[in-house]
Amino acid sequence: MELRSGTRVVVTGASRGIGRAIAEAFAARGCALGLLARSHDEVAALASTLPGRAHEALSADVGDREALTAALDRFGPCDVLVANAGVASYGSFSSLSIEEVERMTQINWLGTVYAVRSALPGMLERGAGHIVIVSSAAAFRAFPQAAVYGATKAAQRAFSEALRHELAGTGVSVTTVYPGEIATHLHDHEKDSMPRWYKRERAASPKSVADRVVAAVESDAAAVHYPPAVRSLRVAHGLSPRLADAVLRRLRGASAAPRGARPRTGSG
Ligand SMILES: NC(=O)c1ccc[n+]([C@@H]2O[C@H](COP(=O)([O-])OP(=O)(O)OC[C@H]3O[C@@H](n4cnc5c(N)ncnc54)[C@H](OP(=O)(O)O)[C@@H]3O)[C@@H](O)[C@H]2O)c1
Repeated sequence: MELRSGTRVVVTGASRGIGRAIAEAFAARGCALGLLARSHDEVAALASTLPGRAHEALSADVGDREALTAALDRFGPCDVLVANAGVASYGSFSSLSIEEVERMTQINWLGTVYAVRSALPGMLERGAGHIVIVSSAAAFRAFPQAAVYGATKAAQRAFSEALRHELAGTGVSVTTVYPGEIATHLHDHEKDSMPRWYKRERAASPKSVADRVVAAVESDAAAVHYPPAVRSLRVAHGLSPRLADAVLRRLRGASAAPRGARPRTGSG
Protein backbone atom coordinates (compact mmCIF):
# COMPACT_ATOMS: atom_id res chain seq x y z
CA MET A 1 0.00 0.00 0.00
CA GLU A 2 1.17 3.47 -0.76
CA LEU A 3 1.28 5.55 2.43
CA ARG A 4 0.17 9.13 1.90
CA SER A 5 -0.35 12.12 4.09
CA GLY A 6 -3.64 11.38 5.86
CA THR A 7 -3.58 7.58 5.42
CA ARG A 8 -5.66 6.36 8.35
CA VAL A 9 -3.94 3.84 10.62
CA VAL A 10 -5.34 2.20 13.77
CA VAL A 11 -2.81 0.66 16.18
CA THR A 12 -4.03 -1.41 19.13
CA GLY A 13 -1.72 -1.45 22.14
CA ALA A 14 -0.38 1.94 21.07
CA SER A 15 0.47 3.35 24.50
CA ARG A 16 3.78 1.50 25.00
CA GLY A 17 6.37 -0.80 23.48
CA ILE A 18 6.08 -2.09 19.94
CA GLY A 19 2.66 -0.51 19.31
CA ARG A 20 3.85 2.93 20.33
CA ALA A 21 6.92 2.63 18.08
CA ILE A 22 4.71 1.51 15.17
CA ALA A 23 2.40 4.50 15.75
CA GLU A 24 5.39 6.85 15.78
CA ALA A 25 6.76 5.34 12.56
CA PHE A 26 3.43 5.78 10.72
CA ALA A 27 2.97 9.30 12.11
CA ALA A 28 6.45 10.21 10.83
CA ARG A 29 5.14 9.30 7.37
CA GLY A 30 2.22 11.72 7.71
CA CYS A 31 -0.46 9.15 8.58
CA ALA A 32 -3.45 9.94 10.83
CA LEU A 33 -3.41 7.59 13.80
CA GLY A 34 -6.14 5.97 15.86
CA LEU A 35 -4.25 5.09 19.05
CA LEU A 36 -5.97 2.39 21.06
CA ALA A 37 -5.18 1.05 24.54
CA ARG A 38 -7.02 0.65 27.84
CA SER A 39 -5.22 3.62 29.41
CA HIS A 40 -6.86 6.67 27.86
CA ASP A 41 -4.43 9.18 29.40
CA GLU A 42 -1.40 7.49 27.87
CA VAL A 43 -2.80 7.36 24.33
CA ALA A 44 -4.17 10.92 24.66
CA ALA A 45 -0.68 12.12 25.68
CA LEU A 46 0.84 10.27 22.73
CA ALA A 47 -1.73 11.72 20.31
CA SER A 48 -0.72 15.23 21.38
CA THR A 49 3.01 14.65 20.88
CA LEU A 50 3.02 12.85 17.53
CA PRO A 51 3.74 14.92 14.43
CA GLY A 52 0.50 15.89 12.64
CA ARG A 53 -2.82 16.90 14.11
CA ALA A 54 -5.38 14.33 13.05
CA HIS A 55 -4.61 11.66 15.65
CA GLU A 56 -7.28 10.26 17.96
CA ALA A 57 -6.99 8.53 21.31
CA LEU A 58 -9.29 5.49 21.49
CA SER A 59 -9.63 3.74 24.80
CA ALA A 60 -10.99 0.20 24.88
CA ASP A 61 -10.09 -3.29 25.98
CA VAL A 62 -9.47 -5.37 22.84
CA GLY A 63 -10.89 -8.38 24.67
CA ASP A 64 -14.24 -6.62 25.01
CA ARG A 65 -15.81 -7.04 21.57
CA GLU A 66 -18.52 -4.42 21.95
CA ALA A 67 -16.23 -1.78 23.45
CA LEU A 68 -13.56 -2.38 20.80
CA THR A 69 -16.05 -2.25 17.92
CA ALA A 70 -17.54 0.97 19.29
CA ALA A 71 -14.08 2.58 19.57
CA LEU A 72 -13.12 1.57 16.02
CA ASP A 73 -16.50 2.77 14.70
CA ARG A 74 -15.87 6.15 16.37
CA PHE A 75 -12.57 6.44 14.51
CA GLY A 76 -14.29 5.59 11.21
CA PRO A 77 -12.78 4.08 8.07
CA CYS A 78 -9.19 2.92 8.45
CA ASP A 79 -6.71 2.06 5.70
CA VAL A 80 -4.31 0.12 7.92
CA LEU A 81 -5.15 -1.87 11.06
CA VAL A 82 -2.28 -2.98 13.30
CA ALA A 83 -3.55 -5.65 15.73
CA ASN A 84 -0.73 -5.45 18.23
CA ALA A 85 -2.18 -5.31 21.78
CA GLY A 86 -1.04 -8.26 23.84
CA VAL A 87 -0.16 -9.53 27.31
CA ALA A 88 2.08 -12.30 28.63
CA SER A 89 2.09 -14.38 31.78
CA TYR A 90 4.96 -16.82 31.94
CA GLY A 91 5.01 -19.80 34.25
CA SER A 92 4.48 -23.54 34.08
CA PHE A 93 1.06 -24.47 32.75
CA SER A 94 0.16 -26.09 36.07
CA SER A 95 1.00 -22.92 37.98
CA LEU A 96 -1.06 -20.57 35.79
CA SER A 97 -4.57 -19.91 36.97
CA ILE A 98 -7.30 -20.68 34.47
CA GLU A 99 -8.21 -16.97 34.65
CA GLU A 100 -4.70 -16.11 33.35
CA VAL A 101 -5.14 -18.62 30.53
CA GLU A 102 -8.49 -17.05 29.63
CA ARG A 103 -7.08 -13.51 29.86
CA MET A 104 -4.23 -14.22 27.41
CA THR A 105 -6.62 -16.00 25.06
CA GLN A 106 -9.16 -13.19 25.23
CA ILE A 107 -6.68 -10.37 24.62
CA ASN A 108 -4.03 -11.89 22.33
CA TRP A 109 -6.16 -14.17 20.21
CA LEU A 110 -9.80 -13.04 20.42
CA GLY A 111 -8.73 -9.39 20.63
CA THR A 112 -7.06 -9.86 17.24
CA VAL A 113 -10.16 -11.51 15.80
CA TYR A 114 -12.45 -8.74 17.13
CA ALA A 115 -10.25 -5.99 15.68
CA VAL A 116 -10.02 -7.63 12.25
CA ARG A 117 -13.73 -8.44 12.26
CA SER A 118 -14.49 -4.80 12.92
CA ALA A 119 -12.14 -3.21 10.36
CA LEU A 120 -12.30 -5.72 7.51
CA PRO A 121 -15.83 -5.13 6.11
CA GLY A 122 -15.09 -1.45 5.41
CA MET A 123 -11.78 -2.33 3.77
CA LEU A 124 -13.53 -4.90 1.55
CA GLU A 125 -16.22 -2.38 0.59
CA ARG A 126 -13.56 0.15 -0.40
CA GLY A 127 -11.45 -2.57 -2.09
CA ALA A 128 -8.35 -1.38 -0.24
CA GLY A 129 -6.70 -1.93 3.11
CA HIS A 130 -3.86 -3.55 4.99
CA ILE A 131 -3.98 -5.62 8.18
CA VAL A 132 -0.88 -6.14 10.31
CA ILE A 133 -0.97 -8.82 13.01
CA VAL A 134 1.75 -8.82 15.65
CA SER A 135 2.39 -12.44 16.56
CA SER A 136 5.72 -13.71 17.95
CA ALA A 137 8.68 -16.00 17.31
CA ALA A 138 6.87 -18.19 19.84
CA ALA A 139 4.36 -18.94 17.06
CA PHE A 140 7.00 -21.16 15.41
CA ARG A 141 8.50 -22.79 18.44
CA ALA A 142 6.82 -22.28 21.79
CA PHE A 143 9.01 -22.28 24.87
CA PRO A 144 8.66 -23.91 28.28
CA GLN A 145 6.89 -21.57 30.76
CA ALA A 146 5.13 -19.94 27.81
CA ALA A 147 2.86 -22.72 26.59
CA VAL A 148 -0.32 -20.65 26.69
CA TYR A 149 1.28 -17.43 25.46
CA GLY A 150 2.84 -19.42 22.58
CA ALA A 151 -0.52 -20.98 21.77
CA THR A 152 -2.18 -17.55 21.44
CA LYS A 153 0.64 -16.42 19.15
CA ALA A 154 0.40 -19.60 17.04
CA ALA A 155 -3.34 -18.97 16.69
CA GLN A 156 -2.60 -15.49 15.32
CA ARG A 157 -0.08 -16.98 12.91
CA ALA A 158 -2.49 -19.58 11.47
CA PHE A 159 -5.26 -17.00 11.25
CA SER A 160 -3.21 -14.37 9.46
CA GLU A 161 -1.48 -16.78 7.08
CA ALA A 162 -4.84 -18.12 5.89
CA LEU A 163 -6.42 -14.67 5.78
CA ARG A 164 -3.67 -13.30 3.54
CA HIS A 165 -4.50 -15.94 0.92
CA GLU A 166 -8.26 -15.71 1.45
CA LEU A 167 -8.15 -11.99 0.71
CA ALA A 168 -6.19 -12.36 -2.54
CA GLY A 169 -7.74 -10.20 -5.24
CA THR A 170 -9.82 -8.09 -2.84
CA GLY A 171 -7.41 -5.17 -2.51
CA VAL A 172 -6.92 -6.00 1.18
CA SER A 173 -3.69 -7.58 2.36
CA VAL A 174 -2.15 -9.02 5.52
CA THR A 175 1.33 -8.91 7.07
CA THR A 176 2.26 -11.03 10.08
CA VAL A 177 4.99 -9.78 12.42
CA TYR A 178 7.18 -12.22 14.32
CA PRO A 179 9.28 -10.35 16.88
CA GLY A 180 11.91 -12.09 18.96
CA GLU A 181 12.92 -10.47 22.26
CA ILE A 182 12.13 -6.76 22.12
CA ALA A 183 12.81 -4.25 24.92
CA THR A 184 9.27 -3.32 26.04
CA HIS A 185 7.12 -3.50 29.16
CA LEU A 186 5.57 -6.89 28.33
CA HIS A 187 7.26 -8.69 31.24
CA ASP A 188 7.55 -5.83 33.74
CA HIS A 189 5.14 -7.58 36.13
CA GLU A 190 7.16 -10.83 36.11
CA LYS A 191 10.75 -9.60 35.85
CA ASP A 192 11.87 -11.66 38.82
CA SER A 193 10.34 -14.93 37.68
CA MET A 194 11.27 -15.08 33.99
CA PRO A 195 12.57 -18.45 32.75
CA ARG A 196 16.34 -18.84 32.45
CA TRP A 197 16.20 -19.13 28.65
CA TYR A 198 14.83 -15.57 28.41
CA LYS A 199 17.66 -13.14 27.53
CA ARG A 200 16.50 -9.62 28.25
CA GLU A 201 19.99 -8.26 27.57
CA ARG A 202 19.66 -9.35 23.94
CA ALA A 203 16.37 -7.53 23.41
CA ALA A 204 16.13 -5.36 20.27
CA SER A 205 14.57 -1.90 20.13
CA PRO A 206 10.85 -1.49 19.34
CA LYS A 207 11.79 1.10 16.70
CA SER A 208 13.74 -1.49 14.72
CA VAL A 209 10.58 -3.62 14.48
CA ALA A 210 8.37 -0.61 13.72
CA ASP A 211 10.48 0.60 10.79
CA ARG A 212 10.25 -2.87 9.25
CA VAL A 213 6.48 -2.96 9.75
CA VAL A 214 6.02 0.29 7.83
CA ALA A 215 8.29 -1.01 5.04
CA ALA A 216 6.33 -4.29 4.96
CA VAL A 217 3.02 -2.46 4.51
CA GLU A 218 4.49 -0.43 1.67
CA SER A 219 5.93 -3.49 -0.08
CA ASP A 220 3.04 -5.84 0.81
CA ALA A 221 5.40 -8.29 2.52
CA ALA A 222 3.76 -11.41 3.96
CA ALA A 223 5.89 -11.39 7.09
CA VAL A 224 8.40 -9.53 9.22
CA HIS A 225 10.90 -11.61 11.20
CA TYR A 226 12.95 -9.53 13.59
CA PRO A 227 15.68 -9.96 14.78
CA PRO A 228 16.79 -12.10 11.79
CA ALA A 229 17.50 -15.07 14.09
CA VAL A 230 13.71 -15.53 14.27
CA ARG A 231 13.70 -16.63 10.63
CA SER A 232 16.51 -19.13 11.36
CA LEU A 233 14.46 -20.53 14.25
CA ARG A 234 11.46 -20.87 11.91
CA VAL A 235 13.50 -22.73 9.28
CA ALA A 236 15.31 -24.97 11.79
CA HIS A 237 12.11 -25.93 13.59
CA GLY A 238 10.31 -26.51 10.27
CA LEU A 239 13.07 -28.86 9.12
CA SER A 240 13.47 -30.70 12.39
CA PRO A 241 12.14 -29.81 15.86
CA ARG A 242 14.99 -31.86 17.33
CA LEU A 243 17.51 -29.71 15.46
CA ALA A 244 15.84 -26.56 16.77
CA ASP A 245 15.94 -27.98 20.31
CA ALA A 246 19.66 -28.70 19.97
CA VAL A 247 20.39 -25.20 18.68
CA LEU A 248 18.28 -23.60 21.41
CA ARG A 249 19.97 -25.67 24.10
CA ARG A 250 23.31 -24.41 22.85
CA LEU A 251 22.25 -20.79 22.59
CA ARG A 252 19.83 -20.50 25.53
CA GLY A 253 20.83 -23.30 27.87
CA ALA A 254 19.06 -26.48 28.93
CA SER A 255 15.95 -24.68 30.21
CA ALA A 256 14.98 -23.88 26.59
CA ALA A 257 14.61 -27.58 25.69
CA PRO A 258 15.14 -29.78 28.73
CA ARG A 259 13.85 -32.97 27.09
CA GLY A 260 15.89 -32.56 23.95
CA ALA A 261 18.97 -34.47 25.04
CA ARG A 262 18.82 -38.18 24.36
CA PRO A 263 19.31 -40.15 27.57
CA ARG A 264 22.45 -42.27 27.47
CA THR A 265 21.59 -45.93 27.72
CA GLY A 266 23.81 -48.91 28.40
CA SER A 267 27.58 -48.89 28.56
CA GLY A 268 28.50 -50.38 25.19
N1 LIG B 1 8.28 -7.58 23.73
C1 LIG B 1 8.58 -8.73 23.15
O1 LIG B 1 9.66 -9.29 23.36
C2 LIG B 1 7.60 -9.34 22.19
C3 LIG B 1 8.02 -10.45 21.44
C4 LIG B 1 7.13 -11.05 20.57
C5 LIG B 1 5.85 -10.55 20.41
N2 LIG B 1 5.46 -9.47 21.15
C6 LIG B 1 4.09 -9.00 20.97
O2 LIG B 1 4.10 -7.61 20.72
C7 LIG B 1 2.85 -7.06 21.12
C8 LIG B 1 3.07 -5.78 21.90
O3 LIG B 1 3.72 -6.11 23.12
P1 LIG B 1 4.85 -5.20 23.78
O4 LIG B 1 6.03 -6.07 23.94
O5 LIG B 1 4.97 -3.93 23.08
O6 LIG B 1 4.22 -5.03 25.25
P2 LIG B 1 3.95 -3.75 26.17
O7 LIG B 1 5.11 -2.84 26.19
O8 LIG B 1 3.47 -4.31 27.47
O9 LIG B 1 2.72 -3.01 25.43
C9 LIG B 1 1.48 -3.65 25.34
C10 LIG B 1 0.45 -2.69 24.80
O10 LIG B 1 -0.80 -3.37 24.67
C11 LIG B 1 -1.82 -2.65 25.40
N3 LIG B 1 -2.79 -3.59 25.91
C12 LIG B 1 -2.58 -4.65 26.75
N4 LIG B 1 -3.73 -5.28 27.01
C13 LIG B 1 -4.69 -4.61 26.32
C14 LIG B 1 -6.09 -4.77 26.20
N5 LIG B 1 -6.75 -5.74 26.85
N6 LIG B 1 -6.76 -3.91 25.39
C15 LIG B 1 -6.14 -2.90 24.75
N7 LIG B 1 -4.81 -2.72 24.82
C16 LIG B 1 -4.10 -3.55 25.61
C17 LIG B 1 -1.05 -1.88 26.49
O11 LIG B 1 -1.75 -0.73 26.93
P3 LIG B 1 -2.77 -0.74 28.18
O12 LIG B 1 -2.13 -1.58 29.25
O13 LIG B 1 -2.94 0.68 28.54
O14 LIG B 1 -4.03 -1.33 27.67
C18 LIG B 1 0.20 -1.49 25.71
O15 LIG B 1 -0.06 -0.36 24.92
C19 LIG B 1 2.11 -8.15 21.89
O16 LIG B 1 1.13 -8.75 21.08
C20 LIG B 1 3.21 -9.15 22.21
O17 LIG B 1 2.71 -10.45 22.35
C21 LIG B 1 6.29 -8.85 22.04
